[in-house]
Amino acid sequence: MRIAREEKSRYLNPSDELPHFANLREAEISAATCRRCPLWERATQTVFGAGANHARVVFVGEQPGDVEDRKGLPFVGPAGKLLDRALNQAQINRDLCYVTNAVKHFKWEPLGQRRLHKKPTSREIQACCPWLHAELELIQPEIVVGLGATAAASLFGVPVRIADVRGKLTHVESVGRTCLITAHPSSVLRAPDPKTRDVEFDRLVQDLTLLQEFAG
Ligand code: URA
Repeated sequence: MRIAREEKSRYLNPSDELPHFANLREAEISAATCRRCPLWERATQTVFGAGANHARVVFVGEQPGDVEDRKGLPFVGPAGKLLDRALNQAQINRDLCYVTNAVKHFKWEPLGQRRLHKKPTSREIQACCPWLHAELELIQPEIVVGLGATAAASLFGVPVRIADVRGKLTHVESVGRTCLITAHPSSVLRAPDPKTRDVEFDRLVQDLTLLQEFAG
């Protein structure tokens, strides 16, 4: 088993272009065996995007969390529940949207019995970027929403400060589309106290309200 894994790791080739995919299902099947970076080794599975095939709005998170890694679906754990609540409040219908991540494997390290989320490196974000672009090519959304710094870095192609770009519909050259950058739902969950959490939640809802005419 160990030899087989090492054998596969040798075939990492993050600079290779992806083949052309006829549809999202074809891309998802191919992504299931992706070896463009080492993150596949410790993850349960590739978590590809999910949702409406021709969504006008695509949401991009950072990477699947512990729950998503087990279930194989994006944003179905605690951050996903908060996102759902914010979407409801902003009157956005998640079923009309497509939800995915900048990085499609769960990166973690052990902490006792728990699997602790670890931030992806810029190399890992870059290695996974062609999958996001393949999804966008196939869906052709009007708006791409970057949730948090990793998604923003993937979309802009360079690290950006959320505070500098947040809350406005902006044409992003590297994506060739209109993007909206806002906070990651996990950052709202991590707020230091309930009052700050409420303020951050309301700010997220306010940003998402900009999407009403596309997915309301
Ligand atoms: N956080 C993310 O960025 N994506 C998920 O799918 C879940 C949590």
